[in-house]
Amino acid sequence: MVEREQWSTYSGFVLATIGSAVGLGNIWRFSYVAGENGGAAFLLLYLVYVITIGLPLVIAELTLGRRAQGDAIAGFEASGPRSSWRYAGALAGVGAILILSYYSVIAGWALKYLIGAAFGPLWDQAAQGYGQYFRTFISRTGEPVIWQILMLGASVAVVAAGVRAGIETVNRWLMPLLALIVVGLAGYSVTMPGSAAGVIFLFAPDWSAIGRAEVHAAALGQAFFSLGIGMAVLLTYGSYMPRGFRLPRSALAIIIGDTGFAIISGLAIFPAVFAFGIDPSSGPELAFITLPQIFLQMPGGAWLGVAFFFLLSAAALTSMVSLLEVPVSMAVQRLGATRRNAVMVIGAITLALGLPSALSFGLLADIRIGRHGILDAADAVVSNYLLPFGGILIALFVGWKLKMGEALSESELGQGWLGLVWLWLLRVLAPLTLTTILLRSATAL
Ligand code: TRP
Repeated sequence: MVEREQWSTYSGFVLATIGSAVGLGNIWRFSYVAGENGGAAFLLLYLVYVITIGLPLVIAELTLGRRAQGDAIAGFEASGPRSSWRYAGALAGVGAILILSYYSVIAGWALKYLIGAAFGPLWDQAAQGYGQYFRTFISRTGEPVIWQILMLGASVAVVAAGVRAGIETVNRWLMPLLALIVVGLAGYSVTMPGSAAGVIFLFAPDWSAIGRAEVHAAALGQAFFSLGIGMAVLLTYGSYMPRGFRLPRSALAIIIGDTGFAIISGLAIFPAVFAFGIDPSSGPELAFITLPQIFLQMPGGAWLGVAFFFLLSAAALTSMVSLLEVPVSMAVQRLGATRRNAVMVIGAITLALGLPSALSFGLLADIRIGRHGILDAADAVVSNYLLPFGGILIALFVGWKLKMGEALSESELGQGWLGLVWLWLLRVLAPLTLTTILLRSATAL
């Protein structure tokens, strides 16, 4: 067997994990979920869940991965006889492919807008309006699929090049660039006349929203999706981590990087939205309908549009790469496949699985699952069921199945109070909270 790769530098590893966390979730999803759930109240709950449940789970995933130095299935092996915990790892592989299947569709939309913004066609739509433009585009049969294939192809190419030469290199270039872009856009947005209301919306809590169960569920779901926990992505990235990297410190870097990115993109989006007197709760269409409209009316807006859709596409790419690595590492380790073959076959499977999502606004628009079309249903299944369920399994495995001493030493948290707080958050708080959310979703059907 070929020797397993490892990250070449600590900074490369941290940038790759932040690259996984920062994606459509931070920009496209965060802004509309926050918009629909009361802005700052949502943000506050989001922060509480990120710290009490997100951070412990990030540490748990990295711990499982580094300890196993193997794929997600190996991550769920404790000492002693083989147990059915291994299926938790297999489930993560399947789940990652499912996420990728619809995520790549939205990433494809972002890429189309990027190309359209760079070469002009996006700016010729003023007359028909962006609502019409967007809906016509996503309801076509061929075009969304082509953009989806381009994004999937790019992810396949990166993962095929390997952990160091592919994943680490791409993140090392893109992540600093994306940070610059988002800070620049936010700086521009908050200095526009009339933008203060957007800043207030993002930072002044509407306390009544705090008591609403659906706001809690949305905040927790967003925390999971945005950090990218529950599907063994961080477990897999952690498995390429050498002993010398400080684990708790990297977990903290991921949390701060991901949350910082979400807040700064909120500062790029909401002040501009308010400056133009637009309703912030326009839903998933915010990035694809509202923002182009705004760019069109701003001086230098075409450049801002290019920057924004580059940000969106590139952030999506680094997340797709991380999701793809989960099943690829399994195929390489379990089936003895070469990385190149594994990634091509899995890419093709993902595309096949994602076609219904790509067509769910046109050809297949009549297929409804409950209130949802296919793409929205896939996202609802993932965010409401799959991710919390994966989170419960990881928390229970590390909290109860691993030997306590092993969990504390492998995580580097040690026997002090910090380690114990971590362990009990995993043992009790995380499973209880996540079960509550799961049951709530199940009964709200
Ligand atoms: N976190 C990414 C985003 O915010 C998406 C993502 C990457 C993800 N890896 C994940 C979501 C694992 C769930 C599980 O867009």
